[in-house]
Amino acid sequence: MSQFDVVVIGAGPGGYIAAIRAAQLGFKTVCIDAGVNKAGDAPALGGTCLNVGCIPSKALLQSSEHFHAAQHDFAEHGITVGSVKFNAAKMIERKDAIVTKLTGGIKFLFQKNKVESLFGKGSLKGRNGDLWQVEVDDKGNKSVVEAKHVIIATGSVPRPLPLIDIDNVNVLDNEGALNLTAVPKKLGVIGSGVIGLEMGSVWNRLGSEVTILEALPTFLAAADQQIAKEAFKVFTKEQGLAIELGVKINEIKSTKKNVSVSYEVGGETKTETFDKLIVSIGRIPNTEGLNAEAVGLEKDERGFIKVDDECRTNLPNVWAIGDVVRGPMLAHKASDEGVAVAERIAGQKPHLDFNNIPFVIYTDPEIAWVGKTEEQLKAEGVEYKKGTSGFAANGRALGLGKAKGTVKVLACAKTDRILGIHMIGPIVSELVAEGVMSLEFSASSEDIARIVHAHPTLSEVLHEAALAVDKRALHG
Ligand code: FAD
Ligand code: NAI
Repeated sequence: MSQFDVVVIGAGPGGYIAAIRAAQLGFKTVCIDAGVNKAGDAPALGGTCLNVGCIPSKALLQSSEHFHAAQHDFAEHGITVGSVKFNAAKMIERKDAIVTKLTGGIKFLFQKNKVESLFGKGSLKGRNGDLWQVEVDDKGNKSVVEAKHVIIATGSVPRPLPLIDIDNVNVLDNEGALNLTAVPKKLGVIGSGVIGLEMGSVWNRLGSEVTILEALPTFLAAADQQIAKEAFKVFTKEQGLAIELGVKINEIKSTKKNVSVSYEVGGETKTETFDKLIVSIGRIPNTEGLNAEAVGLEKDERGFIKVDDECRTNLPNVWAIGDVVRGPMLAHKASDEGVAVAERIAGQKPHLDFNNIPFVIYTDPEIAWVGKTEEQLKAEGVEYKKGTSGFAANGRALGLGKAKGTVKVLACAKTDRILGIHMIGPIVSELVAEGVMSLEFSASSEDIARIVHAHPTLSEVLHEAALAVDKRALHG
C-alpha cells in the first residue's frame, strides 16, 4: 500500500494548488481526482474552474464580445467589415482548446513538483494508527493509499431545480450552457446570479433573445446597490436583456422542440416558451461518495463540510477547502485556502483575510468589488464617507470605446481606512487588484489619492474616486 504525507481529494483550483504547495514544502503528496474531459474518455485535472467554469466561460465571453464589437463598434473606428458571420462550433472548438491546454498544464505542474496523480473517486475508509486510509475507485478498480493528512477539495455541483431535470439538451446547467453549437433564438435563464448574467450576455451578444427570471426582488443583492442599479440599467435598457425580478417559477415543461416556463411576477401569471433554458440557481457542496457519515465527518445544515477559520474539520488531520466549505464559491478563494492549509501542515502561520476576497462578474461592463458595500456598512452602523468617479471622461476608456461605469471608494469616517471599493466599467476585473491590495495593507483613501497612477489608464478613475472621498477630485 502506498504511503504519503498528504493526500488531496479533488484537483480543482483548491486541490491542485494545495497538492503543489504541499509538495513544494517537502511533503510526499498524492492528488486523487475523478474529473474527465468533455468527451468523457480521459481524465481531466482542474475541476469545475478549468473544465466547465471560469476558463471556458471567459473564452466564450471574449468570442462573443468580438462578434458584437465587429457588428456594432468597429464602424465608429472607421473600420468596415461587411457582413459579419459567426460560427458557433468554431467558437466552442477554441474554448475547448484553451481548456485542454490548461488541464494538460496541471498534469505538467504535478510532474514538475513531484505530485503523484491518481485517477478515480476518493473516499475516506478510516484510520490505520496515525494514518488515514483513502480508497481510490477507478471504475471499479480499487486501491488504497495512506497518509497522515487528508485535504478534501471535492468542490460543488449545480443546485438542482425540483421542477425539472437537467438533460443538457434543452434544459442546461453550466456544462450545457458552455457547449451550445447553435445560437438559440429564444433563451431562458433561471437565476440572475453570476452564471445567469455571464452566460446570458454571451448568447445575447450572439443574437439570442434572452429572458432572465430571478426569484429575489433585488438585482445582484450581494453587490453594492448603486453599482447593481447601474448594471441593471445597462443590461436591460442598452443591451436588451429582459430581466424579471421577484419571480416564482410554477411549472417547466420540456418537449423535443422547446421548453415552456410558467411563472408568477407582480401578481401576474405568465408563460414563456424558449428554445433552450439555462438553470443557474447556485451551486451546492459536493460530498457525494466521500463516505463522510461512516467516518464521522461533520457537515453543516446546508451540506458544507464543517471547518474552522483555518479549514480544519472535526477529524484529526482532515482538512477541507474551496467550494465544499463555507465562504464564497470562487476559484481564488479555493486556491488560497489550499496554499494556507499546506503551509499549516508544515507548521507555518499563513494568513487569509476573508474580508479581502475580490468578486468579479465578467459582463460588459464588468463588475468588481472588494470589502463592504454601503448597505453592509449602514446595517453595521459604521460611519463612512464615499467618493465616486466615472469612466465617461477617462481618456483611456474613451480610446477603448468603453467610457461607461463608476468607481466608488468607501472609507471610515473617522480614520479614512478604506472599507470597500466597488466598480462597474471596462476591465475592472484587473482594476480591483489595487483595491484588494489597499484593503490588505489597511490603506486610507488618502494613500490611494497620493499614489501616482499612470496616464492615460483606467486606474485614474480609482485615483479620482479616492480623491473624491476628501472632496478634492481634479476631474469631477
Ligand atoms: P472544483 O473546481 O469543483 O473541483 C473539485 C474536483 O474534485 C473536481 O475535479 C471533481 O471531479 C473532483 N472530485 C469530486 N469528488 C471527488 C472524489 N470523491 N474523488 C476524487 N475527485 C473528486 N470562480 C471564479 O473565481 N471566477 C470565475 O470567473 C468563475 N467562473 C465560473 C463559471 C462557471 C460557469 C462556474 C460553474 C463556476 C465559476 N467559478 C468561478 C467558480 C469556480 O469554478 C469554483 O469556485 C472553483 O472551481 C472551486 O474550486 P474547488 O477546487 O473547490 O472545486
Ligand atoms: P448565484 O448564487 O450567483 O446566483 C443564483 C441566482 O439564482 C440568485 O440570484 C438566486 O436568487 C436565484 N435563484 C435561486 N433559486 C431560484 C429560483 N427557484 N427561481 C429563480 N431564481 C432563483 O449562482 P450561479 O449563477 O448559479 O453561480 C454559482 C456560483 O458559481 C456562484 O455563486 C459563484 O460563486 C460561481 N461563479 C463565479 C463567477 C465569477 O466569479 N465571475 C462566474 C460564474 C459562477
